[in-house]
Amino acid sequence: MRKKIIAGNWKMNLTLDEGQKLTSEIVNMYKDEKISDVVVVLNPPFPHIFPVKKLIGDTPGISVGAQNCSDKDSGAYTGEVSAKIIASFEAEYVIIGHSERREYFKEDNELLSVKVKKALESGLTPIFCCGESLEIREAGTHEPNVKFQLTDSLFDLSAEDIQKVVIAYEPIWAIGTGKTATADQAQEMHFALRRHLGAKYGKDVAAEISILYGGSMKPDNAVELLSKPDVDGGLIGGASLKSRDFIDIVKSY
Ligand code: G3H
Repeated sequence: MRKKIIAGNWKMNLTLDEGQKLTSEIVNMYKDEKISDVVVVLNPPFPHIFPVKKLIGDTPGISVGAQNCSDKDSGAYTGEVSAKIIASFEAEYVIIGHSERREYFKEDNELLSVKVKKALESGLTPIFCCGESLEIREAGTHEPNVKFQLTDSLFDLSAEDIQKVVIAYEPIWAIGTGKTATADQAQEMHFALRRHLGAKYGKDVAAEISILYGGSMKPDNAVELLSKPDVDGGLIGGASLKSRDFIDIVKSY
C-alpha cells in the first residue's frame, strides 16, 4: 500500500529561529490534532536539518529531508553535500531534480539519475521531481515530455529500487504562481505516469509508488487535488512556511 505524503519544501527561506519555531508548531499540531495516516516530510535548507530533526525527535509520521544532494560520494567538492552526510544526520528523504535545480543549476536527466542512485545507496528516499514548462503544456506535448524525464533518469533502476522512489509531478507553470493545475489535470498526468511506470515495471510495482502533486497547493485547493485516486500527496512550497496552512493541507486527506 503506497504512502500518503505531504512534503514541505522550504526552499531558501527561514533563519534558524524561524525554522525552529515553524518546526515546533508543526510537530505540536500534528500530535495535538492526532494526525497519523499521512507522512509529513520537512525539507529545510541544509543547516536546518540537524535542529529540525532534534525537534521532531521520535514523533512517528514526521521526517526530515534535504532539498538536494551531490552526485559525488566525498572529496574536494567545495559547497557540496553528499547523500551520505545527509543520511548521517538521520534525514530520510532528499528532493532531487526540482525544476529550480534543473533551470538555475542546469541539472539534467543524466546527472539526476546519478543523484537518485547516490540517495538510494545512502538509504535516503529520493523525491524525484518532474514537470513541464508552460510552453510544452501549451504545445500539448506535456505527457511525452514528462514521461521521458522518468525514462531517462529512473528507468535503469531495478524493480526493487524504483519502489523506494517517490515521484513529485510539478508543472513548472504552477510553481509559486498561484496558478494550480486543476484536479483533473493533475489526475490525468499522475495516471499517465503510473501507467508509464507500469509498462516498464509491471502494474503491481507501479501501484506501490507514491506520486505527489506540487504547484501552488494550498488549503483551499488541497481537498480536491488529494481526492484524486492517483494523487498520493503534495510537495508544498509557499504554504509549507505557515504552520496552520501546512497542517490544514495535511488534514485535507
Ligand atoms: O517544491 C515545491 C514546489 O515548487 C511548489 O511550490 O507550492 O510555492 O507553488 P509552491
